[in-house]
Amino acid sequence: MKAIVVTDQAEGTAGMKLVERREPQAAINDVVVQVHASGFTWDELTWPSTWTDRLGRDRTPVIPGQELAGVVTALGYGTRGLSVGQRVFGLTDSYRGGTLAEYVAVEARNLAPLPGDVDFTVGASVAMPGLTAWQGLFEHGRLQAGQSVLVHGAAGAVGSMVTQLARKFGAYVIGTGRAAHRQTAIDFGAQEFVDLENDAMEDVGGVDLVFDVFGGDIAKRSAGLIRAGGTLVTIAGPTEARPADGLAVDFVVVSDRAQLSEIIQRVRDGRLRTNIGNVSTLDDAVAAFNPTERIKAKRIKGKTIIRVRP
Ligand SMILES: NC(=O)c1ccc[n+]([C@@H]2O[C@H](COP(=O)([O-])OP(=O)(O)OC[C@H]3O[C@@H](n4cnc5c(N)ncnc54)[C@H](OP(=O)(O)O)[C@@H]3O)[C@@H](O)[C@H]2O)c1
Repeated sequence: MKAIVVTDQAEGTAGMKLVERREPQAAINDVVVQVHASGFTWDELTWPSTWTDRLGRDRTPVIPGQELAGVVTALGYGTRGLSVGQRVFGLTDSYRGGTLAEYVAVEARNLAPLPGDVDFTVGASVAMPGLTAWQGLFEHGRLQAGQSVLVHGAAGAVGSMVTQLARKFGAYVIGTGRAAHRQTAIDFGAQEFVDLENDAMEDVGGVDLVFDVFGGDIAKRSAGLIRAGGTLVTIAGPTEARPADGLAVDFVVVSDRAQLSEIIQRVRDGRLRTNIGNVSTLDDAVAAFNPTERIKAKRIKGKTIIRVRP
């Protein structure tokens, strides 16, 4: 099968190569999926789990990519709940990845059925951002209707899902980003917008929840805005930022079949809009992840999706 591999972390996406690899086998409770569409988070090659297994052992050469939509072609020993020929979508274990390829082996529990009227590209695009937004807002942030949420990177892949889910849930949403992101964030449902390059974030006053995607100084300054009993949720890794009288939670998304099904139902009935940027083929994927300056200038923002099968 065709697959994209990386062997050297220092090279980043420039080290990606399209090669021939053996098709994966289904282990216990796995399915093999023929990948139709695959997603990749732009800084995935900086994540430790891309390069090692759970025991810290080098797992190169690695096939990156955790987001997928496709069709089940084989079941592993003992696998229940999915069948051959079924359309599915979801997220692989972060120590496994492998979706930038024609076939991938995935634990069945990490996938949900993809309804027949939802395109594979759409399925692949909402798995990671949708689950991350859902878990950050409702599990870790324990959002309640009527609360206020500061959503960093509100025009980005995760931030646009956070903005929509929070707003539809009845929260007051303040989005942040660059000046050029204002209209996009408002279109996704933000009621206010802070241009982090020109506005003073502190002017927004107190909020109940901060959904942070940046970490560092922005996370620290955001912690100071959180009201008593509120929460800072970050997906940018462990943080020293702490609200004076509240919680700080950093987490890594895990796949969840029930949540995937909730998310795709919202996409189907129009409550959740996708945020898809460039769509590329597997043959052109390396170039898509390494855009020239000319292409960068014209780049459509949002999630880059690799359409593995036409
Ligand atoms: N822990 C987890 O489970 C988890 C899950 C998913 C993602 N993540 C992480 O979350 C981060 C965001 O992921 P994503 O897929 O949403 O990325 P994304 O689509 O690039 O979204 C980030 C948004 O923030 C904007 N931005 C970046 N730097 C900024 C700055 N200094 N000031 C203002 N706006 C800025 C970006 O604009 P530009 O495009 O113009 O830079 C973009 O609109 C990544 O680091 C990713 O690895 C973690």
